[in-house]
Amino acid sequence: MIMAKMTERMKELFETVGAAALGTSTSDGTPNVVPVGAKKIIDDETILISDQFLNKTLANMKSNPKVSVTYWEGREGYQLKGTVTIETTGKRYEETARWIEEMGAKAGFPLKSKGAVILKIEEIYGVAPGPGAGKQLA
Ligand SMILES: Cc1cc2nc3c(=O)[nH]c(=O)nc-3n(C[C@H](O)[C@H](O)[C@H](O)COP(=O)(O)O)c2cc1C
Repeated sequence: MIMAKMTERMKELFETVGAAALGTSTSDGTPNVVPVGAKKIIDDETILISDQFLNKTLANMKSNPKVSVTYWEGREGYQLKGTVTIETTGKRYEETARWIEEMGAKAGFPLKSKGAVILKIEEIYGVAPGPGAGKQLA
């Protein structure tokens, strides 16, 4: 299995940015990009995104599990590529459901997780402008 590890800094920035861009595509190649804010680091090569509202994105991931996630702050940013699995039962989903329910309670409107999207990272690129732009980092 191909895997790529995030550095401490890549993980820190992923946790602190407000939202990341999640890109998917249909099996015949129509792209789709949406913002996602309910996101967590699982480990160096795995992230989790909670699905509350995903629609085209969810359909795309079911037929084509290859996705790309880009996040940045200022001029520093990273692009992750990998393959997702979607968990709608089990411990990790239950934990995600509780986390999202609490997030909704704090925000003052109900939120419900429909699933935990687990991304296994296979490639990481930098997206900062300049000489190293687009360079593969892992
Ligand atoms: C800042 C921001 C953060 C968002 N975070 C999430 C999220 O973490 N999970 C989610 O399911 N939807 C989230 N959404 C909503 C989806 O991006 C939105 O419902 C989108 O329309 C889904 O479109 P799709 O049909 O292309 O999948 C967020 C929206 C914004 C503006």
